[in-house]
Amino acid sequence: MKTELIFLGAPASGKGTHTERLVKDLNLPHIDTGSMLRAAVAKGTEAGKRAGSFMEKGQLVPIDVVASIIKDRLHEDDCKNGFILDGYPRSIEQAEILDEILEDINKGQDVKLLVIDIDVDEKLLIERIVNRRSCPKCKKIYNLKFVAPKKEGICDVCGAELVQRSDDTEEVASKRLDTYNTQTAPLVDFYEKKGLLRVVDGNRGIEEIYSSIKEQIKQG
Ligand code: AP5
Repeated sequence: MKTELIFLGAPASGKGTHTERLVKDLNLPHIDTGSMLRAAVAKGTEAGKRAGSFMEKGQLVPIDVVASIIKDRLHEDDCKNGFILDGYPRSIEQAEILDEILEDINKGQDVKLLVIDIDVDEKLLIERIVNRRSCPKCKKIYNLKFVAPKKEGICDVCGAELVQRSDDTEEVASKRLDTYNTQTAPLVDFYEKKGLLRVVDGNRGIEEIYSSIKEQIKQG
């Protein structure tokens, strides 16, 4: 059976932290639109040129830019047995586009599709965001307060120098939260009505949250 997981959750709710582990445990590809867009910006592609200014302001990138990225990616060979979507969809309109793509790629197949919402109190999110650091090489995510590297500024896994994302300032983070509340949060209802939503309490330690996510996936 194909396993398709969609992760919902506010900025810094822990989507990247948990999907990074699930990718290894379930052996499924990780499709993370935020990272794909940052790579496009860094490379200076057409999509990147259009996306950059929206990302700097904490707004959603125009729907056509993300739709074509996601459509191409989900048609790739490594998605045959399923995938883990992190950061898509982020609006009802994007969810409707995704429904169409899934209808096309899942034809006649047995699919387990779940939407996991990591629910975190808003007051915790800004603190997590401004203290986040990540490895530009192996993508491991750290936090100066909660998940510090063993050696300051250096990745435990590959030894590269850690970096801070340019949209991880307090100012942009609060705009990202507004964008989430107005455009993405309605998806909770959207997926609940379809019977696909599984809510996980994200106000706990990383290990506890990860166990709950695994349990939800197991239960289906
Ligand atoms: P994106 O990169 O997807 O950012 P985001 O959704 O804001 O999510 P984050 O990556 O900030 O957080 P996360 O939930 O992955 O948390 P993490 O695990 O790192 O998108 C960036 C931008 O791209 C958007 O603003 C938009 O402009 C654009 N974009 C992307 N997708 C788009 C789309 N579909 N349409 C249009 N535009 C799009 O954890 C955060 C921190 O907290 C880390 O430091 C971590 O170590 C720490 N932490 C995690 N869990 C815990 C815990 N339980 N306790 C303590 N610390 C914890």
